[in-house]
Amino acid sequence: MASTSILLLATLLALASWQSIASDPSPLQDFCVADKHSPVLVNGFACKDPMAVNADDFFKAAMLDKPRDTEKSKVGSNVTLINVMQIPGLNTLGISIARIDYAPLGENPPHTHPRATEILTVLEGTLYVGFVTSNQANRANQLFSKVLNKGDVFVFPEGLIHFQFNPNPHLPAVAIAALSSQNPGAITIANAVFGSKPMISDDVLAKAFQVEKGTIDWLQAQFWENNHY
Ligand SMILES: *[C@@H]1O[C@H](CO)[C@@H](O)[C@H](O)[C@H]1NC(C)=O
Repeated sequence: MASTSILLLATLLALASWQSIASDPSPLQDFCVADKHSPVLVNGFACKDPMAVNADDFFKAAMLDKPRDTEKSKVGSNVTLINVMQIPGLNTLGISIARIDYAPLGENPPHTHPRATEILTVLEGTLYVGFVTSNQANRANQLFSKVLNKGDVFVFPEGLIHFQFNPNPHLPAVAIAALSSQNPGAITIANAVFGSKPMISDDVLAKAFQVEKGTIDWLQAQFWENNHY
């Protein structure tokens, strides 16, 4: 009995410390505004002289109210991310924000953020959203999905593959998402697998996807547009 509790405690502690490694490191002062010109290379950015910091370092003029163009996008979406590159004051604070515009029937295709959990709310329209669990023992690759309406909120856990799709053929949709990293990163699955430069060998992908090499060659010949940096 006691040994079971100790094992459980050890597992929880291990998970807790893994969590803190997987997220952005905690700040050790009020702020550390990114000094993009510093020659010092650290994880994130070196701090600008605190005496030179002002409110503008934490500010980005109105841009998330503007609808983004989704006409040119093959997948019918446009992600406007505001991370540490746009607001230097985000350095070391472990947070960022995005606006996502969806054309009618547009989608933000399956992707992951290697460094962030995401919490998303719908401002306009309807979204069918979901994420898939990892190859874990009991619930391997399980899809958790939901239809969201205006004001609804959904969470995509750190690192897991997720998507949003606008099922309405007539109306656009808009969402705002917060992400738990100053630089969440994005890996769009199809682009990484079929659009890498140079290409992954079609021998590798034909076996991985259990299809003919010709199918892989066709997929690799497509243009895998990036809606998302
Ligand atoms: C996103 O919208 C902006 C502004 O509307 C536009 O300049 C940009 O090309 C769009 N990106 C995509 C991938 O369509």
